[in-house]
Amino acid sequence: MQPITAVRGFKDILPEETGKWQFIERQVREVFAAFGFREIRIPILEKTDLFKRGIGETTDIVEKEMYTFLDRGEEYLTLRPEATASVIRAYLEHSLYAADPVARLYTIGPMFRRERPQKGRFRQFHQIDVELLGLDDPRTDAEVMLMLIHFLKCVGLSEPALEINTLGCFDCRPAFRKAITGFLKGKEDQLCDDCRRRIHTNPLRVFDCKNERCAEVIHEAPRLIEYICDNCRDHFEQVQSSLNLFNLSFVINPLMVRGLDYYTKTAFEVTTQSLGAQNAIAGGGRYDGLVRDLGGPDIPGIGFAVGFERLVALLPADAASFHQNPELFIAALGPDAQKYAFPLCNRLRMKGIYTEMDYLGKSLKSQMKRADKLRCRHALIVGDRELSMGRLELRNMETGAQETIDLEGIEKIIEAYIKAR
Ligand code: HAM
Repeated sequence: MQPITAVRGFKDILPEETGKWQFIERQVREVFAAFGFREIRIPILEKTDLFKRGIGETTDIVEKEMYTFLDRGEEYLTLRPEATASVIRAYLEHSLYAADPVARLYTIGPMFRRERPQKGRFRQFHQIDVELLGLDDPRTDAEVMLMLIHFLKCVGLSEPALEINTLGCFDCRPAFRKAITGFLKGKEDQLCDDCRRRIHTNPLRVFDCKNERCAEVIHEAPRLIEYICDNCRDHFEQVQSSLNLFNLSFVINPLMVRGLDYYTKTAFEVTTQSLGAQNAIAGGGRYDGLVRDLGGPDIPGIGFAVGFERLVALLPADAASFHQNPELFIAALGPDAQKYAFPLCNRLRMKGIYTEMDYLGKSLKSQMKRADKLRCRHALIVGDRELSMGRLELRNMETGAQETIDLEGIEKIIEAYIKAR
């Protein structure tokens, strides 16, 4: 019988890699806590309408990429393709805004998009998602970008490149929409089928098309930044001057529109050279109309999400440094030694000392080989003869130095020995 494999685009994260994931999660908790963010945990399944209303009916995500199903003929449900709409749903459902006008939230978890899988692109992937609700001050735009870049540097990225743009607001967007629609009219035959349709449904999306010919056309198009109102311009300038306070380098990319419809004013992306075609590690922006669009009060917000898999791929290939190695290997030779080793091994573990032992009755040579392979820092050699004499050998696996230690009070001796290193 053929073994059953995982679904295409869904991948296992194996034990060799989970050390990196845990390292990143520790950095998330530490860095985000210092900026006042608290964790929220939300379901992965939501009512389909949440994403239709939140992300926008004419985005690629909603049009083509959602895992949606009719739940036993009752209602349409969707595996979340992103977290922002879900966080806001929870924020509204539990009236978090009533307890505190400002909410700083983050969540980590899997997202689902039925895209074509390739290097760095999966159908189930993970995001570290951040949302700051209740403030429209441009300083907060700079603050979340600062936190993002600082976090990426703490994880070990040397040069994350920050691109920013402004997408205007409900006041200035209509004038731009008119301009871009006018520009694209007459150029329909140079555009892909999707973009031809987008001229009428959502012309801003043409900026986001990956088709080379569409990109050529859009290169000559009017830029949103030329149409923004005074309020948006002022906001954008203040965002930049706040970024400059921290010497955060950034590039203004007037062609960046992001793939979700909810953004207003500031939008940003972080990219890196070393990821190939899927070079975006993180993306985000301000969404001052989204809470209202999802049925809540008029509350502004800004946030971003980091692609977890892409971040993991950027960490050094040697995953071993993120993996905890055993402090001690107990090499037990002979039946009495085995009897002695088992409780000692587990008692040391309960003291927080990561200890391994042999359960197969192998020779000393092969037990030491295994201790080496597991990169144990110390080995305790327990033979029946040593036991009867009340003295055991403790070997430092890095230096090869060996010490004889007393059986009496051995747990305390080992604990002190290991903690002193
Ligand atoms: P997004 O740009 O769609 O934004 O996704 C954010 C990040 O998730 C991307 O930069 C990328 O690193 C990662 N990502 C997206 N799709 C995939 C995929 N198929 N495979 C692997 N990684 C992927 C959002 O999702 C917004 N909700 C961000 C946000 C939060 N805006 C405001 N608040």
